[in-house]
Amino acid sequence: MKKEKPKKKSLFLRVLVCLMIIFVLLAVMSFPLKTVHYSIPTNEVTEPVRIIQVSDLHSSWYGKEMNTLINAVRKEAPDAVVLTGDIYDDIVNNDNTRTFLKAVSAEYPCFYISGNHELRRNGWKTYREEAKSMGITVLEGENADFMGITLCGASETGDGRLTFDESVEKCAENADDGFNVLLAHYPENIDFYRSFGKFDLILSGHAHGGQWRVPFLINGIFSPDQGIFPEYAGGEYRFDSETMIVSRGLERTKNPVPRIFNNPELVVIDIIPESEEET
Ligand SMILES: [Fe+2]
Repeated sequence: MKKEKPKKKSLFLRVLVCLMIIFVLLAVMSFPLKTVHYSIPTNEVTEPVRIIQVSDLHSSWYGKEMNTLINAVRKEAPDAVVLTGDIYDDIVNNDNTRTFLKAVSAEYPCFYISGNHELRRNGWKTYREEAKSMGITVLEGENADFMGITLCGASETGDGRLTFDESVEKCAENADDGFNVLLAHYPENIDFYRSFGKFDLILSGHAHGGQWRVPFLINGIFSPDQGIFPEYAGGEYRFDSETMIVSRGLERTKNPVPRIFNNPELVVIDIIPESEEET
């Protein structure tokens, strides 16, 4: 019996080392940026509109001068960039975010709403003004007409003027009869967004893809506000007359727990006339 103990210990250590190597390899594979495409056909637009959604950047690093991310945006030649919250972070240095925003706002119309991390520590007031000084349109319960669609910005103001729910209500009040896109950071509120019957497309983030995935089996292990096995961790969700796209987000250097099978993503959405889909 005394001779078997070292063997068991040695086997246990070997298995542990193998598992650690596999974990590190999976984390490395899940680090690069991916670009994902969605196509939304509708008879409410007469010309195609390409929107890039940037979400949950948390000032993560994307190469020298943020060029990996900036070039990925340029490659897709969008008509507009929407920033769906947690672009700035409340803890880490925000220089990466500033570098990215300065570059994209100089080249594309940008529309920005707050996420929960921007609202913490009273930061939204500063971030909002910084973004505005770059020419970015900040939407706080306001709607913007753009290329035949309406961009509706659900965004708590952080200064008592509007709660998040009130901002959604204002967006719905001012939505028109055309194609309305709701920008709203929190996907778990989908039933509330749908209750107005006004929004054709909802763009959300916040869930970070559930941080770990098991391909074809589990779409996310844990997300804030949704808990374990989140229903809306990332991807496209179709309802009766609405579609919600949840970005898996771009955070990759702040969280000490690495992503697994859940690469950070840049979301490209083509809103196209239905007639073009058929040809
Ligand atoms: Fe968030």
